[in-house]
Order: sequence, then C-alpha cells, then structure tokens
Amino acid sequence: KRYPVICIDGPSGAGKGTVTWRLAQSLGYQLLDSGALYRIVGLKAFEAGLVSADAKRPIDEEALLQLTQSLDIVFVPNNESGRVDILVNGEAVGEQVRNETIGGYASQIAVFPKVRQALLELQQNMATRSGLVADGRDMGTVVFPDADVKVFLTASATARAERRVAQLLRAGQTADFEAILNTIKARDERDENRTTAPSKPAEDALVLDSSMLDADTVYELVKKQCQDKG
Ligand code: C5P
Repeated sequence: KRYPVICIDGPSGAGKGTVTWRLAQSLGYQLLDSGALYRIVGLKAFEAGLVSADAKRPIDEEALLQLTQSLDIVFVPNNESGRVDILVNGEAVGEQVRNETIGGYASQIAVFPKVRQALLELQQNMATRSGLVADGRDMGTVVFPDADVKVFLTASATARAERRVAQLLRAGQTADFEAILNTIKARDERDENRTTAPSKPAEDALVLDSSMLDADTVYELVKKQCQDKG
C-alpha cells in the first residue's frame, strides 16, 4: 500500500521544521527530518577526521560511504520538544546536531552521490508504514518524486539570518548578524550548486516565500495546499 507523502523542501531557516511538525501532528503522519540524517553523517565524519572545519580538505568518498553505512539511525517523535529525537546505533544524539557548525559539515558530505544513495532507502521506507511529512532539500525532486503535495518554502537570506539571530538571543546566547548571514549564504551556495540533488523546487511544487510571513500564515497556506491536493 502507498501512503500519502507531503514534501517540504527549502533552505535552512525558511520555517520548514515548524510547518512540518505541525502538519505531521494534525494529520497523524510520521515526520522525516532528512536534514538530521545529513547532520549526523556530517558530525560522525568530523569526529572520524574525514571532514575539516574550514571545508578545504578533500574528502575520501569511500571512507565516508563506509561510515554512512555503519550508522543505524532511528527517529523518535518527542512531543515535549516538538522535534524528533534521534538514535544513532542505539545512542541518543542531542540537540547539538542542530547547530550551524554541524550544518556546515552536513552540507560538505551531502554533495557525495554515494552518501545520498546510501540514505535513500531509509528515507523512502518511511513512507511504507503511514503517511509522511518529509522535510529537506530533495524530497520532492529525488526521494519522493510522486509525492501528493510538494512545497518549496524559501525566504531571503537576510530574513533567515534575522530569525536565527532572534532565536539565539531568545536562548540567551550572543549572535553576530554578519557572520550568520555569511554562513547561511555559504551553505545555500553549496546546496544549490552541487551536481547531485541540488536544492531547488520540483517542477510541480508550490513555491512559498516566507520572508514577510509569520509561522501561522505559512502553516495555513501549506495546509490549504494539502486540502486542495487531497
Ligand atoms: O535542513 P538542515 O539545515 O537540517 O540540513 C542540513 C544540511 O544537510 C543542508 O544544508 C544540506 O546540505 C543537507 N541536506 C541535503 N538534503 C536533504 C536535507 C539536508 O543535502 N534532503
């Protein structure tokens, strides 16, 4: 049996995570945070010395593939945090994978076709048990080309950097707007220009720019798209 699939793609900070979580809750679907998969591989690759912080050292694709294949990754929804908890080889991976440094490692390893291929089946299998809301860069283009609903949620780099700054300040941390903007741009650049599965809207995706929209409005618009397509 084939279950419904909703794809929410787009760059980081456009609001995908929030809308994905709310949709999954309201529809009773599973949630696939595909970025977390790439973040975990990025983190493990950094720990194994395969990835450098400055992104300048060449990466050994075969070693990276072996590392990826050695990871058993499981998602567990956490209603308290409104996110999924992640288990890697039975061990919980904390919120640390969400930081921008790990995002940078993720985008370095995400350019390799063999790594993407190794993660493909795990992602596609998630749609074999129940309906799925999948969030990432290539959900609508590569992983679920036949999805029922495809949304590409974007926002200007400035708007995304401002949100990130606000988020860090709320968490009592310091934030450097220019530095954050530059990291966001560097990651976009790598994700959009890679050869394999670049970040871009599927031909049949609804493209939504959230620069001027609040989270509730984005959610309502995406929900309406699901109803129209459902
Ligand atoms: O969405 P998130 O910011 O967590 O993703 C981290 C990185 O993982 C992205 O910048 C991108 O390089 C990679 N990624 C990807 N394909 C996906 C999801 C994430 O290449 N479907």
